[in-house]
Amino acid sequence: MDGPSGTGKSTVSRRLAAACGAAYLDTGAMYRAVTLAVLRAGLDEDSPAEDIVAVATAAPVEPTTDPEAPRIRLGGQDVAAEIRGAAVTKLVSAVSALAAVRTVLVERQRAIITEELSGIGGIVVEGRDIGSVVVPDAALKVYLTASEEIRAARRSRQDAKAGRVVDPTVTLADVRRRDRLDSTRATSPLHAAADALILDTDDLSVDAVLAELLRLVAERGLLT
Ligand code: DC
Repeated sequence: MDGPSGTGKSTVSRRLAAACGAAYLDTGAMYRAVTLAVLRAGLDEDSPAEDIVAVATAAPVEPTTDPEAPRIRLGGQDVAAEIRGAAVTKLVSAVSALAAVRTVLVERQRAIITEELSGIGGIVVEGRDIGSVVVPDAALKVYLTASEEIRAARRSRQDAKAGRVVDPTVTLADVRRRDRLDSTRATSPLHAAADALILDTDDLSVDAVLAELLRLVAERGLLT
């Protein structure tokens, strides 16, 4: 499941995994957690790239794969709330644009996917480059999209719900800034894989998107 932020990717990915009895992996949370490690090391966007790469690639990030209760730990500490904060959100695109960081995280993601496929038997993976780079042979590739305004409104609602301060103008600007950075980076820029199914969620509720995904999963014979 790929697409920009605010498309409802996380919600539908978790619900799809739960409905199918599959595991769930949020790769964005992994990029956020290594970014938190970078911040904790006292680095920022002006720091030398090699220092950022050294910290990010060594960061002990452990995601869990239960769709009912996804967690992410950094050095054993649950950082699920902290990685959604403004400081991480501001820096994460720059950290995730570094090729050496992506190489290490993609390798870890593939290891988790392989383990879950041979264990529970299925996994829903969400991110920006899952269909294009991480799992090019995925049985089903979906790319979720929505207009910038709708995505910014969804992000604002999520932030308000989590108790974070919301300024809709700032959120829209941030959505635009991250779209630009994520789509124009040299390594694995955000784009739909050629064989991905593109779903525009502007006029679709979460339930409607989920129903369509379950239909696709059944149609492809992925539930055994
Ligand atoms: O899905 P998210 O907003 O939590 O992702 C955070 C950032 O991580 C996003 O701005 C781009 C990056 N990311 C990425 O480069 N590749 C992925 N597979 C997932 C996320």
